Amino acid sequence: MSIAIDGPAGAGKSTVAREVARKLKITYIDTGAMYRGLTYAALEQSLPLEDGDQLRQLLDSIHLSLYWVEGMQHVSLNGIDISNQIRTLQVSKHVSSVAKHPSVRERMVQLQQEMAQTQEVVMDGRDIGTHVLPQAQLKIFLTASIEERAKRRYNELVDKGETADLEQIKKDIAARDRMDSEREIAPLRPASDALMVDTTGMGINEVIDEIISLYQCKVGGEGV
Ligand code: DC
Repeated sequence: MSIAIDGPAGAGKSTVAREVARKLKITYIDTGAMYRGLTYAALEQSLPLEDGDQLRQLLDSIHLSLYWVEGMQHVSLNGIDISNQIRTLQVSKHVSSVAKHPSVRERMVQLQQEMAQTQEVVMDGRDIGTHVLPQAQLKIFLTASIEERAKRRYNELVDKGETADLEQIKKDIAARDRMDSEREIAPLRPASDALMVDTTGMGINEVIDEIISLYQCKVGGEGV
């Protein structure tokens, strides 16, 4: 059993995917965290982010792994927890440049497919329904207006006590959407059999319930 949740930055994928996984008692895998982990490692070593070969060599030489503590996914780099470090503005700004390289994506997709082979998963990202798990039983493409996505990011930062500029966040999200959608390999795009869920104006619990009910329709009401 696997569920693929794709969509643009800030559509609420991680929160929704994590909660859906918790309710279904299966593993949640946030694939964006893997691209973020590699970006963090590359920035630490001051590697040129335009050089796909060097990034791939770096990916092959580090030990980037995901592990879970009470349902929360953590990311470690060579045994050190970098879950917080991968969420900085600096990593967010550069991650699309790292994720666009075919040689990087090839290995990331392999790693993600290996994880989904041994367990049932809810996986979120940009290319899960189209490339990583094309056989997923349920594929969701989660969207929301750019205004709403920027507002959610803004509120998240303000809630954490950080200063935030709504217009700047909107610009950053639009730039990331553009890079993720226009890249040559595995661009952000709904799979032909994905169900579109527009979360504009919906509360997070409403979205979770909607996905659980879509899942129940697929599996005939079992599993929750
Ligand atoms: O979901 P996120 O914002 O943490 O993702 C970070 C970046 O990684 C995003 O800009 C696009 C990229 N990404 C990707 O290309 N493919 C995925 N499966 C997941 C993320």
